[in-house]
Amino acid sequence: MSMKVILGAQWGDEGKGKIVDLLSADVDIVARYQGGANAGHTVVVDGKTYVLHLIPSGILHPNVVCVIGNGVVLDPQAFLDEVAFLESHGINVRGRILISHNAHLIMPYHKLIDSLNEQGTSKIGTTGRGIGPAYIDKFARVGVKIVDLLHSDILVKKIKANIEDKNRLLSKIYNSSTINVDEIVDSYLHYDEQLDEFIKDTSLYLNQELKAGKKVLAEGAQGAMLDVDFGTYPYVTSSNPTSGGACTGLGVPPTAIDSIIGVSKAYTTRVGNGPFPTEIKEGIGDQLRKIGGEYGATTGRPRRCGWLDLFSLKYSVMVNGIQEIALTKLDVLDGFDTVKVCVGYKYQDKPLKSFPLDLCTIEDTEPVYESLPGWKSEIANAKSYDDLPHGCRSYVEFMEKYLAVHVRIVSVGATREQTIAR
Ligand code: IMP
Repeated sequence: MSMKVILGAQWGDEGKGKIVDLLSADVDIVARYQGGANAGHTVVVDGKTYVLHLIPSGILHPNVVCVIGNGVVLDPQAFLDEVAFLESHGINVRGRILISHNAHLIMPYHKLIDSLNEQGTSKIGTTGRGIGPAYIDKFARVGVKIVDLLHSDILVKKIKANIEDKNRLLSKIYNSSTINVDEIVDSYLHYDEQLDEFIKDTSLYLNQELKAGKKVLAEGAQGAMLDVDFGTYPYVTSSNPTSGGACTGLGVPPTAIDSIIGVSKAYTTRVGNGPFPTEIKEGIGDQLRKIGGEYGATTGRPRRCGWLDLFSLKYSVMVNGIQEIALTKLDVLDGFDTVKVCVGYKYQDKPLKSFPLDLCTIEDTEPVYESLPGWKSEIANAKSYDDLPHGCRSYVEFMEKYLAVHVRIVSVGATREQTIAR
């Protein structure tokens, strides 16, 4: 069995879309294992930019089948809009996208509750796509699943019970107006006809295909530092972007995994609230945002920016078992005289031995930097690793040595061609 897992090694937005698109050329199936329409994966092909939220980036390769796994929370309208968007660009998706019958549905009340939660004092800075509330229902065992769309009596019963519950919450706790049951029941009954052709037991499908020798690429959304168990909780998303999530989110055994690739930017960004030790609020932070075009692909929010945080990356390498790194946006660092990398954290003046998981420690850590000379030349047209200037290669090799992981792919621009494989 041959399944590769690819995931964001930082706080999301590492450029996974481009790397998944590249690796898709050598696989039969690309399968997304968690998250929902909170993700924004950008791929540039033949001068056209595609931003995908739910459908795996492998869809741009005509022979690849794309799976949306059971670990995903699916907003049916967002999915249909994405299908329409791809078709309007001449991409044939029919027969090439499978949605797990076991995935959960995002309901309008999830988005409403998400936005109401964000009006309180302790904001997470969510994408507002209803992700947290949908996963709450999944784990509270009251969620509405894709398979329910195929049984209208069960669907109606579940939606009505949920709305009764949510309306009590909305009126009594949130002091908000309530939701109209009939409208929601009506629209979800229609999704059956539109989604029917995509629904499948994708765990069975993936296992059968793997046994038959097909190659699968499991695609994570967001990033390891946003993982609900291993990220900077509570400033995280509500799923497991870490590599273990690939198994639970697809119904594929860990023994099927033969390699794990972490995608990391050459610097660090984060969108939304929460600790970010290497954040630089002005100056270089603004420069990185401007040069790197660091604005959210889903919400358009400006991303917080800072130097590469190798200390958190080392933790990410450990938790995920990352064996290879795809390094993106290295060209963004072209113009700096000096580039810094964070090689440790100090807390109350003492160096920390491992990445801190409690919020009060991480919020008060001070990054320890190592300064490396910049390379001060454009690398966007480099075709091989040897074309890169000495300082740039030293930067990559410093990272490799610190993490004890090979940097296998170096990306120097947005297009497929601006990629160096080592
Ligand atoms: P949620 O996933 O919308 O609940 O948001 C929770 C946190 O994860 C917020 O800080 C978001 O900004 C962040 N987040 C969610 N999706 C992404 C993503 O695709 N890239 C980067 N950050 C994300």
